[in-house]
Amino acid sequence: MNNKMKKIKLFDPSIGTEEESAIKKTLQSKFWASGAGTGNVAKFEQKFNKYVGSKQCVAVNNGTSALHLALSLFDIKNKEVILPSMSFVSTAHSIIYNGGIPKFVDIELETMCLDDSLLKESINKNTGAILPVHFGGMPCNLDSIKSISRKNKIPIIEDAAHAVGSNYNKNKIGSHGDAVCFSFHPVKNLSMPTGGAITLNTKNSKKMVNKLNARRWCGISNRHGPNYDVSELGWNFYMNEFSASIGLEQLKKLNKLNRRRQEIARRYSTEISLDLKMPFSTNCSYHLYWILTKNRSKFMKKMKNLGIETGIHYKPITEMSLYKKTHLLENTKKAGKMITSIPIHANLSEDDVSLIIKSVNNSI
Ligand SMILES: Cc1ncc(COP(=O)(O)O)c(C=O)c1O
Repeated sequence: MNNKMKKIKLFDPSIGTEEESAIKKTLQSKFWASGAGTGNVAKFEQKFNKYVGSKQCVAVNNGTSALHLALSLFDIKNKEVILPSMSFVSTAHSIIYNGGIPKFVDIELETMCLDDSLLKESINKNTGAILPVHFGGMPCNLDSIKSISRKNKIPIIEDAAHAVGSNYNKNKIGSHGDAVCFSFHPVKNLSMPTGGAITLNTKNSKKMVNKLNARRWCGISNRHGPNYDVSELGWNFYMNEFSASIGLEQLKKLNKLNRRRQEIARRYSTEISLDLKMPFSTNCSYHLYWILTKNRSKFMKKMKNLGIETGIHYKPITEMSLYKKTHLLENTKKAGKMITSIPIHANLSEDDVSLIIKSVNNSI
């Protein structure tokens, strides 16, 4: 790669003067954080809840905490929780944090999402929850997952870290499962320095919010002025004011940014000359765009030499030594060897997209 060559980043948050002003305002207010979740955090929760169409929303400090706390609301101790292995490790960690047992189920190669046709045979008397991941923003088959969960009275906790702004059955992801967890990590579609949220859709949502509010701030409850109680253990998981102030601005732009991601995905899905690639769907937020390459390291090297960053999302969780067991996850294994992410974000110009497509086609 020569030094003058334009570099194209894999991820790149889209920010403007609005975020800069919001940060400055928060800085000057000197109100930077509050475990009580007032100020910008409360505003963000209210706006995000409305955007998603959920019953309740609680903001936290990242997507991992969101999963940790969301699972703490359900009875999963010593029980199996069904999840895909093709995800970030937090998905599995959150089960262990709560004393549950991860039960990895294979994915569909077309979407990288949990293969819902395998759910029936994976559920048993000791199943505590189903934890699907909307991979890259592509919504899982929630109708099928819901029907199995209802039949077996098992809650659904969704990992929607990639799916902010995705839709399923004309409603936003976040408005379906019992609890839905989001990440606002800087590379995500809605970027913050760090951040996450849990949306709730059960009849008990109000009660659950009280539990989550306490658990995200060291167990503190029943606050009356300076007086409060702690009746159970909690963590230091609350969102800070800077993140919330950026999030409020990002939320206003989210649909526009996601539309740009979709335009790019539409071109990739038609112009990249590979059969195995992420399909196009207007329901998808396209946090990632993946392709399956036969010789991944060679491909990634060629792309790097052309100035284009690529990545691996993900090495399957079941290939990490903490989780390593003999799992018969054929599709996961295959995808784990071949999956490669190419740049997709709203800062890419049409010329960038054309260059990426040409480079991919010449490097596979
Ligand atoms: C699928 C998935 N789940 C959970 C997380 C955890 O989110 P965070 O990094 O905000 O803790 C991520 C983040 O990369 C993710 O990709």
